[in-house]
Amino acid sequence: MTEACTYIIFGATGNLSRVKLMPALYHLEVAGRLPEGTFILATGRRPWDREQWIAEVREMLLAKARNGLQEAVFERFQQRLHYFEMNLNDQAGYENLRIFLNTQPSFPSNMAFYMAIRPADFGTVVQYLHQADLLTQTNGWRRVIIEKPFGYDLDSARALHQKISKHLSEEQLYRIDHYLGKGTVRNVLVFRFANLMLEPLWNRNYIDHVQITHSETLGVEGRADYYDGAGAMRDMIQSHLLQLLTLVAMEPPVSMEAEAMRDEKVKVLKSIRPILPSTVHAHAIRAQYQAGQINGEKVPAYLQEDKVPADSVTETYGALKLFIDNWRWAGVPFYLRTGKRLAASQSMIAICFKQPPQQFFKVSQLQKMRPNWILLGIQPAECLKAEITVKEPGLEMNTRQISLDASFREAGETFIEAYEELLLDIIKGDRSLFLRYDEVEYAWRIVDPVIRVWATERDYIPTYPAGSWGPKESLRLFDREDQNWRHTLILPTE
Ligand code: BG6
Repeated sequence: MTEACTYIIFGATGNLSRVKLMPALYHLEVAGRLPEGTFILATGRRPWDREQWIAEVREMLLAKARNGLQEAVFERFQQRLHYFEMNLNDQAGYENLRIFLNTQPSFPSNMAFYMAIRPADFGTVVQYLHQADLLTQTNGWRRVIIEKPFGYDLDSARALHQKISKHLSEEQLYRIDHYLGKGTVRNVLVFRFANLMLEPLWNRNYIDHVQITHSETLGVEGRADYYDGAGAMRDMIQSHLLQLLTLVAMEPPVSMEAEAMRDEKVKVLKSIRPILPSTVHAHAIRAQYQAGQINGEKVPAYLQEDKVPADSVTETYGALKLFIDNWRWAGVPFYLRTGKRLAASQSMIAICFKQPPQQFFKVSQLQKMRPNWILLGIQPAECLKAEITVKEPGLEMNTRQISLDASFREAGETFIEAYEELLLDIIKGDRSLFLRYDEVEYAWRIVDPVIRVWATERDYIPTYPAGSWGPKESLRLFDREDQNWRHTLILPTE
């Protein structure tokens, strides 16, 4: 049985909490998965009382609840909600928080502290929690959930780790990468390790290259104060996309236990060939969106977005070519790319196979047969596709490509948001979908040389029109002319 706990959310009135956390907790209530007796304590600077907070949450849920807010469920949910006014940066507030928690006999003594706050405040909040004796696990567990980015680069990640690991053991820390909670991302593991037929092909002998794409039509959406200091490399590639790469490339773990999984993921990260400062431009591309059109509507350039400095060279598009120097993957390029204001919103993994050794069915010397692809749609389509060559019906020996297409979801099966899974795992104490510190450190080691070089190049950044597939310079990452970005899950027509 999962034990009840008190979820204490720092930054509860902020965007992450509104859009992801409160809706996820509510959906766990709908599913009957929040343990009996669990309470959710929001902390914030606003001088609200409990009634006002409940009214706020109701508004959040009206906007986000799947299939509309269910009043009977909300009635149950609101009984778990409490509000505590405090300023994160005021140490005295933590003492008051402890006193408040002690005077609530109904609150479970297991506590999960969720940092839905600015990364710059993670270290201080952990220190203040420690000083108020809120992290000692004498009665009940104490867990701290930290959002990405963990640090700003390798040095700051190490410094943050040093600061918080003085007060928390690794077992108490839940470093979230919400991508790992997405259904299809977990399906990568099932797809690879529950099916025997793929394993013999899953290596350098058969795979030509791998592409991992996360594209968005959205811009910075009012988050420029965070995003302009981060950019696509820190925001998406260092975390989500490198995590996807580890799942595609890792060896079968000895079990699906957290440590066994993380050991294998770290081995992949350690095997990635370091990018030298002199090779950054051969391995990485950055660009920024200009004005353009998305779905027929004009959208402004990044530099015109609210709170973006006029001379910003922050990348809203990033692409990286990596090699994993191990026996399985030697010589196979992995291409990672992400961007805002691109032509479509989607995440996918595309695996391109090599050509057969002899091209029996091509009609001319020039024609090349199309390679096989395996495509894993992560969002919005959650699917698996395999593209293979078949003979066209008719008298001629002509071939064409078809797509074997399987959706992961049967009609009527509900979509579960990543945060639902992860918030429940925290209560259960299952850390397999959370990052261990060494994963974070090795991920920073990979991207650090790139962001260092980019930081020195402050006078120019390539651009792309909003609504396009990114800068033409990105093609430079490919070694061969017949290689190109795979933009969609749909079979190409020509
Ligand atoms: C977040 C990034 O971690 O992931 C955002 O900070 C990005 O910039 C988001 O838009 C993408 O995640 P999802 O689940 O909305 O596709």
